[in-house]
Amino acid sequence: MADEDHIEALLARLSRAQKLALVRGATDPEGTATGYLSGVDEAGIPPFRLVDGPLGIRAEGHRATAFPASIATAATFDTDLARRQGAAMGREAMALGQDALLAPGVNVIRVPQCGRNFEYLSEDPVHAGTVGAGLIDGIQSADVVATVKHFVANNQETHRTTVSAEVDERTLRELYLPPFRSAVDAGVGSVMTAYNRVNGTHMSDHERLVGDVLKGQWGFDGYVVSDWYGLESTVGAANAGLDVEMPGVAAPGTAEAGDSDTADDEEFEWPDGIPDATRAGLFGDPLAEAIDSGQVPADRLDDMARRVLGQMDRFGRLDGSRTASEDGESDDEAGEIDSQRHRDIASDVAARGTVLLDNDGVLPLADGADVAVIGPNIDEPKLGGGGSSETTPVHSVSPAEGIESRAEGAVTTAFGVPQIESVSLFDLLPFVGDDDADGTAADSDRRDPSLEDAVDAAAAADVAVVFVRDATTEARDRESLELPGRQDELVSAVAAANENTVVVVRSGGPVELPWREDVAAIIEQWYPGQADGDAAATVLYGDRDPSGRLPVTFAPESQYPTAGAERRYPGVDEQAHYDEGVFVGYRHFDDAEVDPTYPFGHGHSYATFEYGDAEPTAEQTVAVAVENVADRPGREVVQAYVRPPSVEDADRPVRELAGFTAVQLDAGERQTVTLTLDDLAFSRYASDSGWTVDSGTYTIEIGRSSRDIRTTVTVDR
Ligand code: NOJ
Repeated sequence: MADEDHIEALLARLSRAQKLALVRGATDPEGTATGYLSGVDEAGIPPFRLVDGPLGIRAEGHRATAFPASIATAATFDTDLARRQGAAMGREAMALGQDALLAPGVNVIRVPQCGRNFEYLSEDPVHAGTVGAGLIDGIQSADVVATVKHFVANNQETHRTTVSAEVDERTLRELYLPPFRSAVDAGVGSVMTAYNRVNGTHMSDHERLVGDVLKGQWGFDGYVVSDWYGLESTVGAANAGLDVEMPGVAAPGTAEAGDSDTADDEEFEWPDGIPDATRAGLFGDPLAEAIDSGQVPADRLDDMARRVLGQMDRFGRLDGSRTASEDGESDDEAGEIDSQRHRDIASDVAARGTVLLDNDGVLPLADGADVAVIGPNIDEPKLGGGGSSETTPVHSVSPAEGIESRAEGAVTTAFGVPQIESVSLFDLLPFVGDDDADGTAADSDRRDPSLEDAVDAAAAADVAVVFVRDATTEARDRESLELPGRQDELVSAVAAANENTVVVVRSGGPVELPWREDVAAIIEQWYPGQADGDAAATVLYGDRDPSGRLPVTFAPESQYPTAGAERRYPGVDEQAHYDEGVFVGYRHFDDAEVDPTYPFGHGHSYATFEYGDAEPTAEQTVAVAVENVADRPGREVVQAYVRPPSVEDADRPVRELAGFTAVQLDAGERQTVTLTLDDLAFSRYASDSGWTVDSGTYTIEIGRSSRDIRTTVTVDR
């Protein structure tokens, strides 16, 4: 708990200039942080460092564990594992002298093409909120402030700095706000505002959502930080409730930062999706002037500083117990980078988040099978997507290395088609140096691969395993849900040569798999991070059950609610109309009575599970027995959905996820699991009367996915 008297006494000793320094970013003298507050040396307030991001620590000049993408963490449906990942990231942040982690990202996945879906968790708010809370709890258990982002309705990268999400109150309350609310309930220390506008107002200036909802109605008492160069105005932001401007200084390399070798600001046009990185210093002098002129109340500055000091105090930054050493590394002995336990957590998440989409029985592979490992990038791990979440690991395993070290039969390799190049936000910035975070050096040999070699390798092997990937980045949406390059052609050619073709997909979100009827098995591994090849091998050979489940619906691009409706996405005249309302993801597919390719919550196991009858055990809980009837162990993710009673004029989704749990069962083992049901699934938000739970009979559906319900029970409300 923050020591309020201590903070008030400290505040009383600070000059206005010192308070202003606590709420505006500055240049990190050590250069490791993504954002830096200089602290107030005379008052014993140390500097404070904020660092990206959701997939691991991106401290400049340092390596750190590359965890799988957030969507993979979400696919584990394992809140405890998310917590352990959060704690590991917190410890690494600490070891690198950082105080706040700019994670997790909990924006609900609305648009399947969004370039940052890999950094987000789910198309469902209860799922995103629950996994997000696990991550937050873990990060903060290591005494590092978690920063939930991007508040709110940042659901596309196209025009992200200018677009206005035109979204009604019910949809905000039922879909887009709840994961942030869960973060606040989990005690998150910081909230980052989004770049976009909501109903016309920039989120940095959004008094109703930041001031009234987040701070007022939800009682958030941490600090609200801007996204980088995302502050729209001095007075608007200060009065809306924004507390900290980041990064507060123009980007290095720009003329405004005093560097001459940059594009001249007058002529330079910032690419779409990239904020103007010279836009800085709106807090600082302009804030002092706004206070002097009475446009911003003086006690607002006290409140901003108090909120920052409160989090510093809460996590032990004000008592001198934690000091960063000269090189920006912590002298905290609990700090650790790339330790064995962190490598293990990264592997656990990658393996457990792996979703077995289809399997005709070819998997798990026999130990002694001769395997052809095929794909344009089989010699590189798929660490993540591009942008602020990029990490550089100490250790990583490529797909080919992973299979080679596990296989007992012969392994041959072939690229087949040209390499898929990573894309990165940083390549769009003229003033950022050539930084290839994936380490994918061009190699002339692999620039000219032969499809024929791949087909021959496939034909000669017992099994062909084809690794395919997409390439996504912050600041850019995908142009389509098709796999890039000639990968579809490669899969089809290999499948024609070997009926035991297994495809391992690495994607940041849904992709189209046009050859899916022609292959024997398909696995989705998202961006698996440094453990890549090992995690793939462990699942392919059945050393671990592929127990991930889809946090997003997979369907042809044309079937999503934003398809073919420019008004909805990417928007017209800088407005994206969310007029599909709450019917996003499986809520849309259920409502439209369309069978998707793979529904939300889907994922096979190598084991087989049977469900008993569900029984309510208390007001908000339901129990069900699950039995593993296979002759091998497996892990089952049990999901509970709520079907509301039909109420006139309430256009509600067919079903909504209310809770989930996972259970590891040995062959023949049976266990009763208990699921806690979230209030959100029972409630609806009516614009006139607010939150409402209609009286009537609710059906609780328990099953393996949103479209594979095994038992139901009714409860009256
Ligand atoms: C912009 C991104 O939107 C945000 O997620 C990130 O934390 C900041 N840049 C800092 O890199």
